[in-house]
Amino acid sequence: MSNLILILAAQILLFTAVASAGDFAKELNPKRFHKKEKLTHLRVYWHDILSGQNPTAIMIQKAVSNSSTSFGSITMMDNALTSDVPVNSTVVGQAQGFYAGAAQRELGFLMAMNFAFKTGKYNGSTITILGRNTVFSKVREMPVVGGSGVFRLARGYVEARTKWFDPKTGDATVEYNCYVLHY
Ligand SMILES: *[C@@H]1O[C@H](CO)[C@@H](O)[C@H](O)[C@H]1NC(C)=O
Ligand SMILES: *[C@@H]1O[C@H](CO)[C@@H](O)[C@H](O)[C@H]1NC(C)=O
Ligand SMILES: *[C@@H]1O[C@H](CO)[C@@H](O)[C@H](O)[C@H]1NC(C)=O
Repeated sequence: MSNLILILAAQILLFTAVASAGDFAKELNPKRFHKKEKLTHLRVYWHDILSGQNPTAIMIQKAVSNSSTSFGSITMMDNALTSDVPVNSTVVGQAQGFYAGAAQRELGFLMAMNFAFKTGKYNGSTITILGRNTVFSKVREMPVVGGSGVFRLARGYVEARTKWFDPKTGDATVEYNCYVLHY
């Protein structure tokens, strides 16, 4: 008898715990995203400028001392994204984030960056790119793992192709073709 009372009491306690824990979260109807999913293609040029008076990318952590592949380095960037190849063409946004030497036997970077757009209906919207960039490969594919604003719930991928590279300074211009699914 007392066992039964204990079990009942435990169940009441458990039930109140679940009920109050449930207050902070609620399942909503996903149909609130009733809009059709869209596929947007963006082509932008990413300018990595390490040299000169006004670099847009700065190495904040040097590679490990005996690495020939920049392993261990970290470079923070706030790189212009333009609508065309020349660095002085129209700026449509900024690529903000970092790249880090993540491969010991080849030149391969971990890219972690937001493309923050600032033109037209994309102004204030972002996509987030997180991926592996073996910079000497002709085409590097990296995932788009999310986004904000126009690109809320984004997923997709980018293809990066180097258009210009100065081996003396490390400055580079890279074409990014972004294929983004969003609502
Ligand atoms: C770099 O140094 C580390 C530690 O001394 C060593 O284990 C590693 O093999 C070296 N790497 C190269 C590429 O020489
Ligand atoms: C961009 O720079 C090039 C060479 O530096 C110059 O010839 C061209 O007129 C510039 N274009 C714009 C839109 O400023
Ligand atoms: C983008 O949005 C910012 C902040 O709302 C605003 O100051 C800026 O003028 C806008 N730029 C364009 C090109 O619409």
